[in-house]
Amino acid sequence: MPAPIAIFKLARSLPAIKKKPVDKPLNILILGSGGREHALYIACKASLRVQRAVVAPGNGGIPPEDCREIDPCDALAVEALAAEVGAGLVIIGPEAPLAAGVADSLRAAGYLVYGPGKQGAELEASKAVCKAFFARHGIPTAAYAGFADAGMAEAHLETLPEGPVVVKASGLAAGKGVYVCADLASARAAVREIMVERVFGESGDEVIIEECLMGEEASIMVLVSGDTYTCLPASQDHKRIGEGDTGPNTGGMGAYAPAGIIDPALQQRIGTEVIEPTLRGFKKEGIDFRGTLFIGLMITEEGPKVLEFNVRFGDPECQVLLPLVDGDPVDLLLRCARGEPLPKTIPLRPLTQVIVVLAAEGYPGNYRKDVPITLPDSLPPATHIVHAGTRLDTAGQLRSSGGRVLGVVAGGPDIHTALQRAYAACDAIEMPGKTLRRDIGWREIGRNPRLA
Ligand code: AMP
Ligand code: GLY
Repeated sequence: MPAPIAIFKLARSLPAIKKKPVDKPLNILILGSGGREHALYIACKASLRVQRAVVAPGNGGIPPEDCREIDPCDALAVEALAAEVGAGLVIIGPEAPLAAGVADSLRAAGYLVYGPGKQGAELEASKAVCKAFFARHGIPTAAYAGFADAGMAEAHLETLPEGPVVVKASGLAAGKGVYVCADLASARAAVREIMVERVFGESGDEVIIEECLMGEEASIMVLVSGDTYTCLPASQDHKRIGEGDTGPNTGGMGAYAPAGIIDPALQQRIGTEVIEPTLRGFKKEGIDFRGTLFIGLMITEEGPKVLEFNVRFGDPECQVLLPLVDGDPVDLLLRCARGEPLPKTIPLRPLTQVIVVLAAEGYPGNYRKDVPITLPDSLPPATHIVHAGTRLDTAGQLRSSGGRVLGVVAGGPDIHTALQRAYAACDAIEMPGKTLRRDIGWREIGRNPRLA
């Protein structure tokens, strides 16, 4: 009889035993390189119907044989790769390839794609387009005015009462184009930075000047397939680098779901006041949306108001939402890509999921690169590590290669257990200068204090 250790080794070296797929085995191409794309890759590898998943360009957490070094915005290169992979589904992670029309080119070439075409992607790529869409379809949002001229924008500021106001570059600015200004003087400075100094280049050709909304923020990722939709649980991101929501904005330092701020009554209201008018608007305007509609909301005293639409999964929200789905998320993405009706609700695991992001020292400013990383041999239960800015060097050493480097995802019966697991794993990761927030989920903890 072989020693138990040998059996263990043998079992680990065998591919995971999958049940017979219900459908034709599927090869999937995922575009992007962040934590969101690693989470999508993990979901694809766990799917009974998926034979192979390839990520372009991918990152250091994905086996090198499943990564391809191409530019996800280069439609011809993406098409060639989709052909090489034999992709039965292409999932587009980030906004840039969507805004560049990569989904349209792939669809024209006959591929099934999860992600909207260029027309739908304009809702994220241009805040001016998005605000005009809200106005046409009666979607509740902050009052605003848009300007393509700095002088006119400054003249508009003179007409406003002294107090907080929000100034936004209309185009894509990697989450950095929004200035929440305490007074009109800082709003004038923001207009100059965006339109005169052109810190975001042509993304600052137009600015939006907006009423400053007060309340708590939350996001809902809606899977949209033509005129049907289904919502993933509400989540809350932590955009600022510092604890207590201080310091500059980042891509997101952590998230959790479900977020209790959105109770069933509010969820219902968001459905009738925001999601349904949006889908009717899509139909009226000929937008065949097949992908994620990310609704950024401010829950104000008057009710939910939309801060922004994005047209892809949030990062790091995606990393906590996919593990909450009790079933195969790939089935849902495939349904969207085919334009098939979606179930009204999806079964969910009765868990709270959190992610704590480990960033490089100095992020979101000039940050350290190429830092060696050592991951622990074992992790707490229901905990896993998602890679973002990592790469394997030629010696096989894992190194940092971006600002947000890793995310620790943990689940538990309540947020306290999930956070305890996540932080235990964060502490066990060796990465010189690792930077993290210790207060992820603080609002939810306030709603659910730990029982003594
Ligand atoms: P956005 O990219 O439009 O979601 O804006 C980024 C962040 O700026 C949001 O998550 C909010 O924290 C803040 N913000 C944007 N618009 C407003 C607004 N009208 N009132 C208050 N805060 C806002
Ligand atoms: N975490 C916010 C975003 O993905 O835009």
